[in-house]
Amino acid sequence: APAPGAIETLLGFTAVAKTLADASTVPAGYTAATVFATGDPLFAGVPAYRNDGTDTGYDRRSGDCHDGMEYFGLSAAGTPDPLNNDRALLGINHEYITQQFLHVAGPAARPRPASETDIEVDCHGVAIVEFAKTAGKFAYVQNSSFNRRVTGLTEIEISGPARGHPLLVTKFSPSATKTRGTINNCGTGKTPWGTLLTGEENWSGYFYRAANDQARRTAKVNTALTRYGRSVTATAGAASRYGWETSGPSDKYQRWDTSVTGSSVDGSDDYRNEINGQGYIVEIDPYRATSVIKKRTALGRMAHESAAFSKPVAGKPLAVYMGDDAQGEYVYKFVSSANWSAADATAANRVAVGDKYLDAGRLYVARFNDDGSGDWVELSMANPTVASYAGYAFADNGDVALHSRLAGDAVGATKMDRPEWCGVHPTNGEIYFTMTNNSNRRLAPTGSQLPLNPANPRAYSDIRGASSTQQGNVNGHIVRLRETGGEPTATSFQWDVYLFGAESGASPTLINLSGLTDDQDFSSPDGLVFSASTGLCWIQTDDGAYTDTTNCMMLAGLPGQLGDGGNVTLNYGTTSVTTRMGKKAIEGTLKRLFVGPAGNEITGMCETPDGKVMFINVQHPGDDTPVSDISNPSRYVSHWPGNGGYGAGGALARPRSATVMITKNDGGRIGT
Ligand code: FEO
Ligand code: CA
Ligand code: CA
Ligand code: CA
Repeated sequence: APAPGAIETLLGFTAVAKTLADASTVPAGYTAATVFATGDPLFAGVPAYRNDGTDTGYDRRSGDCHDGMEYFGLSAAGTPDPLNNDRALLGINHEYITQQFLHVAGPAARPRPASETDIEVDCHGVAIVEFAKTAGKFAYVQNSSFNRRVTGLTEIEISGPARGHPLLVTKFSPSATKTRGTINNCGTGKTPWGTLLTGEENWSGYFYRAANDQARRTAKVNTALTRYGRSVTATAGAASRYGWETSGPSDKYQRWDTSVTGSSVDGSDDYRNEINGQGYIVEIDPYRATSVIKKRTALGRMAHESAAFSKPVAGKPLAVYMGDDAQGEYVYKFVSSANWSAADATAANRVAVGDKYLDAGRLYVARFNDDGSGDWVELSMANPTVASYAGYAFADNGDVALHSRLAGDAVGATKMDRPEWCGVHPTNGEIYFTMTNNSNRRLAPTGSQLPLNPANPRAYSDIRGASSTQQGNVNGHIVRLRETGGEPTATSFQWDVYLFGAESGASPTLINLSGLTDDQDFSSPDGLVFSASTGLCWIQTDDGAYTDTTNCMMLAGLPGQLGDGGNVTLNYGTTSVTTRMGKKAIEGTLKRLFVGPAGNEITGMCETPDGKVMFINVQHPGDDTPVSDISNPSRYVSHWPGNGGYGAGGALARPRSATVMITKNDGGRIGT
């Protein structure tokens, strides 16, 4: 522990330098240890991961591509104990797969062998994993009765306004009340009543749609499928990401074909509506391994990332903030109909509490005005602009919930530079949203490119030294909101740009507007989580623009408040854009604490309530290894974490996504 009387300084650590090392790099005085990696067994009798592509049974192991993560404290007696620092359940997203390393010689061609598809489907979803301290150090507990795997096949209830909707009728659920699986789980959230929220992000591409399917659908359904990324023509279909629908006649494979294949009017004899069962915020009670899981459709359907709650205030509704991660998509807020009751924080039936707060409420989309103000616009049939939208004739509020993007289009929401994670500042309540990047933002856009606006003001980037060329906003930025009156129900807000990602040497007037130095420059912010203990703003990157210089990283920020950097004008010669900014990140307000291994992104962060143990996820190390190199381990882009001594394989290990535990050697809080 720190010496008695020692004064703790936030950001007192020595910044980690940018590095291409195939390792977990932390500052002097810190330790990073791998604690839970792809394939690790989660139940008694499951053999250890062999790291040679022969492992099976991933519904009883860690899934792949660890992403968002939350900490749920557990007492010694095994009851919920949110403030426990020694025992917890971690809820961990398994977003997708680094496919080439899951099979002996990489994936087989289509039609995909059923045995490979089963592995891949099981590698998706969520893990609930017990962690407990042995001799003062956390390790995961293989045989815990709390351990659970939710996969791409797990039965899940449809809840909220879209439950029972005709657009959710399938052969599996003619009553449109359930679906199977949760996929591409990216960001997370933690409810004030102790459950996990997990966001389904790039689910659309998992579904095959046949070329001639357009002719079998109504114009309205074609509009919806096109808006969600599954447009087809008479001659060109939409291929699925992994080809799972090619694995045989069983409906567990055919469900991934979202074409009309039956003859029913309502879809009850095929899987034409199966795609409508994905795209939600999903709620899981981590404390009961058999609890019912629910898709909370009131929170809209999009490429969901995290879900961040406003600080609960007794007698007031709860606000939940969310982003839709695709180029030009929107920022959303859900406001519960029910007012918060503090007794619900410790209620035994957590699923029922979720029903109370997450099934009824109002969904809003954000408009960022040029003058630094903003509006939350309601998306429901009660809004005449939605109800009378010429672009898509909404049938009812279930239809609006299923097609939030189209409702956002109807009201002219602001097209953003890929909204990823959001987080709420623990003391001043301001809401931070990462805009990870948008290479399609331009001064003079053509085609699908987007024009500049003050909330997305950058057209230039310095990638690999080519600073004179417009490449759009490839380094990303972080937008910050303040609700009018600090109220969760506010329908207006103020906004600014907290930070612009940039290379430290880039133009200070058009690119490196935050004045980032070598110790703090970053590109493509993605994960963003505030520490409830230290108040530090943890920023994680998922980058492709600065990776010639450094692997992806995590930084700690000490943000001030909205507008504390004043106005800045980006002068493009013929035109200019003025925006409001946070303070420049001069030495002392932002520092790099962690750099991950080769080819990785950093995503997901949770910590013990005392702030002394932090868990983060390293996702898809070595993912740019070509399939043709799988038989030659010396050519793998990464060998982490095996090269650091974790699991089998050693210096020539297959790379694995993994949870990393960060501690400070003097026992102090992380970020000091
Ligand atoms: Fe899964 Fe938008 O990152
Ligand atoms: Ca560069
Ligand atoms: Ca993400
Ligand atoms: Ca990302």
